[in-house]
Amino acid sequence: MLKKIAIVCLLACSQFVFAQKKPAPGPAYKNAKLTINQRIADLLHRMTLEEKAGQLNQLNGGVFTGPAVNDANQQAKVQMVRESKVGSFLNVTGVKETRNIQKVAVEETRLGIPILFAFDVIHGYKTIFPIPLAEACSWDLPQIEKNASVAAREAAAAGLHWTFAPMCDISNDPRWGRVMEGAGEDTWYGEKVAAARVKGLQGDLDDANHVLACVKHYAAYGLSEAGREYGNVDVSRSALWNKYLPPYKAAVDAGAATVMNSFNLVDGVPATANKYLVDDVLKKKWNFKGLVVSDWGSFGEIVTHGYAEDGKDATRKALEAGSMMDMESKLIIQYLPQLVKEGKLTMKQVDEAVSRVLYYKFKLGLFEDPYRFSDEARESASLFTTANRTEALKAARSSMVLLKNDANALPLKKQLGKIALIGHYAKSKEDMFDFWIANGKADEAVSVLEGLQSKFGASKITFAEGYNADATTNEKLISDAVSAASGADAIVVVIGLSGKLSGEERSLANLNIAEGQVQVLKALQKTGKPVIALINSGRPLVLTQVKDLTNAILQCWILGTETGNAVADVLAGDYNPSGKTVMSFPYAVGQIPVYYNHINTGRPTPEKRDGPFTSRYRDIPNAPLYPFGFGLSYTTFEYANLNCGKTVTKQTQLPVSITVKNTGAYDGEEVVQLYIRDMTASIVRPVKELKGFRKIFLKAGETKTVDFVLTPKDLSFFDGEGNVKLETGKFKVFVGGDSKNTVEASFELK
Ligand code: NOJ
Repeated sequence: MLKKIAIVCLLACSQFVFAQKKPAPGPAYKNAKLTINQRIADLLHRMTLEEKAGQLNQLNGGVFTGPAVNDANQQAKVQMVRESKVGSFLNVTGVKETRNIQKVAVEETRLGIPILFAFDVIHGYKTIFPIPLAEACSWDLPQIEKNASVAAREAAAAGLHWTFAPMCDISNDPRWGRVMEGAGEDTWYGEKVAAARVKGLQGDLDDANHVLACVKHYAAYGLSEAGREYGNVDVSRSALWNKYLPPYKAAVDAGAATVMNSFNLVDGVPATANKYLVDDVLKKKWNFKGLVVSDWGSFGEIVTHGYAEDGKDATRKALEAGSMMDMESKLIIQYLPQLVKEGKLTMKQVDEAVSRVLYYKFKLGLFEDPYRFSDEARESASLFTTANRTEALKAARSSMVLLKNDANALPLKKQLGKIALIGHYAKSKEDMFDFWIANGKADEAVSVLEGLQSKFGASKITFAEGYNADATTNEKLISDAVSAASGADAIVVVIGLSGKLSGEERSLANLNIAEGQVQVLKALQKTGKPVIALINSGRPLVLTQVKDLTNAILQCWILGTETGNAVADVLAGDYNPSGKTVMSFPYAVGQIPVYYNHINTGRPTPEKRDGPFTSRYRDIPNAPLYPFGFGLSYTTFEYANLNCGKTVTKQTQLPVSITVKNTGAYDGEEVVQLYIRDMTASIVRPVKELKGFRKIFLKAGETKTVDFVLTPKDLSFFDGEGNVKLETGKFKVFVGGDSKNTVEASFELK
């Protein structure tokens, strides 16, 4: 008996010793050897319904980028983290701040699930790049990808995991302040830019140098009525499929991890609760496996729209539609458990949403190391570096678009005497930055004044404000400007819009140049010296009057940190402008929307506008002041020998080629653009559609042959249900340096 007890005791002890040596394995979700899906399954199994609701709750933790509704103080929010009621924060940035919150999430909660930190890194985190609309004018996809990757690297070094970019909304309406955040009016080009941005931001997500991208605003937000932010949208299914959806789809195909709902309705249903958009198209048809996050408060706005009775009903409708994370409505956290308990939502629906949040937390390695993005040394070594600023400078140079250059007013001759630099925005750094400044600091940027001083020598630049911060002027400001100009050989005048009028909630009904600035231009023109206008704006403005008052116009957009250096390079001729506008410049506000790829009316207007009973304005041309794709260089290019086959089949490709000659005195880059028109189709197609481009460099006098191929995909379109249609018939092909001035040929699809 004693012997038996001794043996049992021995066994128990040895087990104890064994257990001491090799601790029992932790929970499966902490085991990095298992697949992410196995770990998610284990974690879901352990989570309470309330903890699951917490994962779907995204709270603002910093500056407000939306309206504050029932906002708690920071301590109360940290307490919510402690209670597992927050899955993600937006607007908390920097290693120190994010680490403090992360510590609470992983050390003070039952399951230790890390937080995802998100921020609007729209065109740079600390080194600020040109606004997205501007960088798109470079037509330089590798550079665009690079810009995004620099932004991501800085953001990741500052504790962030996720950015709300790229915006893939196609828009024809410069009244909308958000056009600065997109890639312009063209769908095909929008697809390419969206994909480049996603690749740059996300990389493969394995190296802690990238962040999750977020495709927004899904869908058709760029159609916001009359350009009003948060406005309504009315869009046909065929326009949705052919014009608005493709860039979101391209971003999803490029691997974007997340998608953001838009604020608007589509077909009368708020996008956040729109089953067709989210479940049918995004998740099922496009096979999107990532996370869908609402826009700020858009769960709550389902009620305001009149589509749900109350917050609880809105939560159910949004989740049923396939939306997953609630940004700042604070409704999921309040109602989700109740909805499940009442049988109005299933646990399966909840688990699917939660598993997508968890997936990215695993994928980013946060369960292994929640502080993977929290290295202070890395943060200080990675931000605003010389290398990053060099990329920002390259991007800024290639973003500018030269709209007018009479008698070669530009470049300014190096041996030139004095330059008068006029304009409040030439000096005011805040105005060189837009709403989406992220953690950039305006005073770290190079102003136009500083850029010109360092390029030409401070003694050569005479500066005068010309107008006030609010763009008004007075006699004194004007006479100071004129006297600055009187001793100068050339006048550079910076006009346009304050940077603060660009970005979210910056809709404008008036896009004319302010009267005060026009008065300054008129006074300067009277001096008889060449007047060069630099336009500071996050959107195309109406430059019709400016065109008559100046010798040259350089559209600078909003260029960020390196503004002054980039502008100086272009003015001096050290960089030959190569940008082409990706949005048409309206002749007058009343023309908006004005865009190149419109549908023909039954009564198109002749060029001369003299055809009676045609679709025309009596007072102004139909055409924009500057069309899509337009931009000058210091040199000139000639197009000849457009070559394309006469027929193509549904299985073959059509080669197209053209010769381009640099006929001017400077080496330069040209964006060679290829458009098509499907002459007869079961859904009428636009008068021109971009289907290809090449950005080429030609030495002065050099000629190159540029080759394209048109694929069956290029010749196809969608029906209203998203089915691809490839129809036989006649096509036209156009090639040129902008969407208007092209050479053309025809072919047939048999
Ligand atoms: C609302 C904006 O529409 C969206 O683009 C942005 O990402 C969020 N606010 C978060 O700031």
